Amino acid sequence: MRLSPRLPLVVLAATFFPRLAPAAPNPVAATLHVDTAAPGPALDPHLYGIFFEDINYGADGGLYAELVQNRSFEYYPVRDWATRPATNDFTPLTAWSAVERDGRHARLSVDIREPLDPHNPNYLVLRLTGTGGTAGVANSGYDGIPVTTGALYDFSLYARQLDGAAAPLHIALEAPDGSEIASADLPAPGADWAKQTTTLTAARAEPAARLVVTTAAHGRLALDMVSLFPRDTFKARPNGLRRDLAEAIAALHPKFMRFPGGCIVHGTGLANAYRWKDTVGDVATRRPNWNRWGYHQSCGLGYFEYFQFCEDIGAAPLPILPAGVSCGFEKPFQACTPAELGTWIQDAIDLVEFANGPADSRWGSVRAAMGHPASFGLTMLGIGNEEHDTAELRALYPKFIDAFRAACPGIRIVGTSGLSPEIPLHDLMTATGVDISDEHYYRLPEWFLQNQHRFDAFARRAPRVYVGEYASKGNTLYNAVAEAVYLTGIERNADQVVMTSYAPLLARYGHTQWTQANLIWFDATRVVHTPNYYVQQLFSTSAGGRYVPSRLSSASDIPVSDVGISVTHREEDDTWFIKIANPCPQAFTLRIALDGLPPQTHLTGRRTVLAGDRDAANDLDHPDRIAPVVSAFAAGPVFDCPTPPMSVQVLRLAPR
Ligand code: AHR
Repeated sequence: MRLSPRLPLVVLAATFFPRLAPAAPNPVAATLHVDTAAPGPALDPHLYGIFFEDINYGADGGLYAELVQNRSFEYYPVRDWATRPATNDFTPLTAWSAVERDGRHARLSVDIREPLDPHNPNYLVLRLTGTGGTAGVANSGYDGIPVTTGALYDFSLYARQLDGAAAPLHIALEAPDGSEIASADLPAPGADWAKQTTTLTAARAEPAARLVVTTAAHGRLALDMVSLFPRDTFKARPNGLRRDLAEAIAALHPKFMRFPGGCIVHGTGLANAYRWKDTVGDVATRRPNWNRWGYHQSCGLGYFEYFQFCEDIGAAPLPILPAGVSCGFEKPFQACTPAELGTWIQDAIDLVEFANGPADSRWGSVRAAMGHPASFGLTMLGIGNEEHDTAELRALYPKFIDAFRAACPGIRIVGTSGLSPEIPLHDLMTATGVDISDEHYYRLPEWFLQNQHRFDAFARRAPRVYVGEYASKGNTLYNAVAEAVYLTGIERNADQVVMTSYAPLLARYGHTQWTQANLIWFDATRVVHTPNYYVQQLFSTSAGGRYVPSRLSSASDIPVSDVGISVTHREEDDTWFIKIANPCPQAFTLRIALDGLPPQTHLTGRRTVLAGDRDAANDLDHPDRIAPVVSAFAAGPVFDCPTPPMSVQVLRLAPR
């Protein structure tokens, strides 16, 4: 039975029995002795989480369900991440084009003189001339606007007459051949900016429609914040998230979500840093920004929406804020002055108030006005992302931490140990006494296999560890197995490593800046779960509460020291979880002995296996090439388990 994250778990009744092992064709090659009574470290409830960053069009054009690209005409040429220092060809009219029919003409330009909001300065001016017919403007969305038969789409815009142009607006979704799929009419705009809304119902499906706004008016018309959302967003939230992507993320059962990055926290310099205050309040008043990955972000998916999504999926929020310095990869490196540091610290303090403060506090009232008077329950905050080891950072960072800790003593601080497994800032994090320190590495699968014992010798006096970004540079089964091996080492050291998150989370086909490996790939309508995704899901949903020491021995030539094994136990329902990540090319039978359990113990088992060809990956044409297969079995305290080559499996054993 192939287990899809979209399908409920279905267990196939395939039974294998202790010692008889008819389903295990290979001889027993190794034995795992589990010392069920031995003490082991408790797993932190936040061990498995997610890292969200607006990279690879993960937010606009991705998780954020807005279908109109460049809705507020704020695009402009920016440095392209792939080709820097060259700029790409964005303009305020990117994704927009004129529509002219039957003798009516439209000229498009962008003005800033009488904006809807100063944070959102650009707006479209439509100059309409000619006689007869209609004219206007069309938006092509992100690779077209996908439309589903019978679905509802919520349209809105702000409009005003500038000079004449007193005629109703016709709103339509059009197929490439020009035929209408849905339409509605809005009254003629007035002389002042005003929001107009309507709902479109699609008469038929179309993978790449465009949104068209036309009028029979003559004169000049101003438009801004032209928006189209599917009604069917995740949890039916307005200004919401793409349901299929949000559901794929929710199915990981992440215990925390880090946001908004990643490098975009830094931007390309202090002026381009991600400032959370620009991303809250009415979307028409937010300040759009471009990000260091070379494209624009509307900030429609902003801090309120991040907190709300965390709440919706049961993940603890982990915002990451800049520490007053720029990313060390950006030249010239920038650092704020000691006098300016106060502003950056105040942003962090105010964020805690935005998340948790009373509804009548300055920032709590902003949250309440957005529809969430209750606290979001923020308990931890990251200061800095993957900082480089600079004198400026070493001077500023302790001041930041001291001031923040004094103002917000109840918030756990997640510091940054810097880029690479060498963790160059670990001493600074230890000296400043941050609670948890974040380390990042993107390495070949062999590195993950060779480093499954990385944390065995880690100093227990130092801050706890958050492996905040990691990936083995590929989305094949082999990559996923290597990451699983590494995670078994993390569970063994659960007293030291308290949080992990794979990165990046999302990637839109054809729009990636991070090409080697991403957890979830998607296009306009489809979602592909990688083998790496299934590893994250398996580990997250079978973490268990306490690590249980075990010992693997073998008299065969199977290199069992390469195999990653972790046994955990959940006290509440007396459930055992045994994770076996086998990077070896050999299949073998593993005898498992739960030493210490009475011989008459009867256990009900569920076995979930991820296996296949070493280099196999999932894609749009073969989304389920590698997917978990679930089966049921009965066992006693000693039983045999078939172990396929290149596989990850989780056994879940509960009392019968
Ligand atoms: O995950 C992609 C990038 O890798 C992140 O933005 C950055 O923190 C890291 O270098």
